[in-house]
Amino acid sequence: MESGNLNSSNSFFELGVNRNQKIYSLKNVPVQGKIPEWLNGIFIRNGPGMLNLKNRRLNHWFDAMGALHKFEIRGGKVDYTCSFIECESYKGAIESGELKFSEFATDPCRSIFKKVQSYVFPSLPNMTDNPKIGVARIGEKWMALGETPMQLEFDPETLKKIGVSEPVPGAFAYKTTAHPHFDKEHAYNLVVKFGMISYYKIYDVANPGAKPIASIPVKRPAYIHGFGMTKKYFIITAGPLVVVPIELLFWKRPYIENHQWRPQDGASIWVIDKATGKVKAHFNTDPFFCFHHVNAWEEGNEVVMDINAYDDASIIQKYYLRELEQPNLELPFGTIRRFRLNLATKKADVQILSDACIELPRIDYNRFNTESSYQFVYGVSVHPEQRQGFYNSLVKINSQTGNNTYWFQKDCYPGEPVFYPSPNSKNDEDGILLSIVLDTGLASSFLLILDATTMQEIARAELPDPVVYGFHGEFFPQ
Ligand code: CO
Repeated sequence: MESGNLNSSNSFFELGVNRNQKIYSLKNVPVQGKIPEWLNGIFIRNGPGMLNLKNRRLNHWFDAMGALHKFEIRGGKVDYTCSFIECESYKGAIESGELKFSEFATDPCRSIFKKVQSYVFPSLPNMTDNPKIGVARIGEKWMALGETPMQLEFDPETLKKIGVSEPVPGAFAYKTTAHPHFDKEHAYNLVVKFGMISYYKIYDVANPGAKPIASIPVKRPAYIHGFGMTKKYFIITAGPLVVVPIELLFWKRPYIENHQWRPQDGASIWVIDKATGKVKAHFNTDPFFCFHHVNAWEEGNEVVMDINAYDDASIIQKYYLRELEQPNLELPFGTIRRFRLNLATKKADVQILSDACIELPRIDYNRFNTESSYQFVYGVSVHPEQRQGFYNSLVKINSQTGNNTYWFQKDCYPGEPVFYPSPNSKNDEDGILLSIVLDTGLASSFLLILDATTMQEIARAELPDPVVYGFHGEFFPQ
């Protein structure tokens, strides 16, 4: 392969997006290097597995039928298995070759629409039940998570469906996030309820059927992908990518395309008391868009919040397949921004912590979420010396100094880096990162294990085939 920026065929797109995931299992995946002997457990990652249905090509990276990938790591050996997520939208797509449910940016054909009318709102298509974004253990259940409140329980051995869970009954007119927050007994999630008056609500989804903890009325609900949490507060950030709910009733275009970017409104931030559910403070700031919250904590009168933000929502446009297939694709850079939200003066200050492009940000969540002593954010990045194309490197950002360290290798497209601490780990870089990397030179993928302190490779487990570029994973020690 030629070095340099211009892959005239965009081999990332052909191997990492525009291809249906090959489903197989493999014992004893070939390993290069030495996997640390203390690293035992399973790494499961969720994400797109199919964007080309038999009779229909989907429009957007977020439209795909989801697939789960599992790497079981034990005694330095690795077994791999993958499976499509067996929800109704996937089954319908396989049986008919058509899209049967409304996805993020693609709707079923109008003729199908009519056949599957919802009886609640006759003009609406059925919203997808495809939980393709993340994975979590909620109570004893292994869950695949998406943005409709229908989440799917799977068997961690086989990745096959066990059942669906609907923590908020009447899921039809709701959206939720694939990024719940956890503390010892709870799994909190944000739900957006559409109606004449719409609401942002926070539920404890570990206790199905429980009443919402907080409920904030809102005229034009925003597209929201995640939220924040400190020890005492929830933080809801809503950029001005908003929808007028009445327009959803007529449903003239796919879900996300009903939203408008209204920078004149600025962004809204609510700090909500976890104990009472009451709004402690509301902030209106310059407009921004974000998918992911990174961390948040309290400091005197302030709530400090780090998010992975953009100046506008154009990143959503760039994730359409027609954009991703462009050989000269240039992604807008998301950066880590630190907001200092003063609860007394109701003033918000913002600072960009590093110029590095970052997305799919991860921290050492189990130990450092809500802790001011946290230092490091890990994510996928566009390397400053290879600006064109998709995310082609991993970055580690020191949130205290703004210093960046990259992992970069020619023709490689690493996915989200998941941190796991070493035994007796002293800080949030003392551990390893796990990332599924697409190598377009070899036309295959590998599981990369990096030393998080040095960002140097420790080992890799090499698959014979490429893995479609995905979203979020977790490592579950066993
Ligand atoms: Co996400």
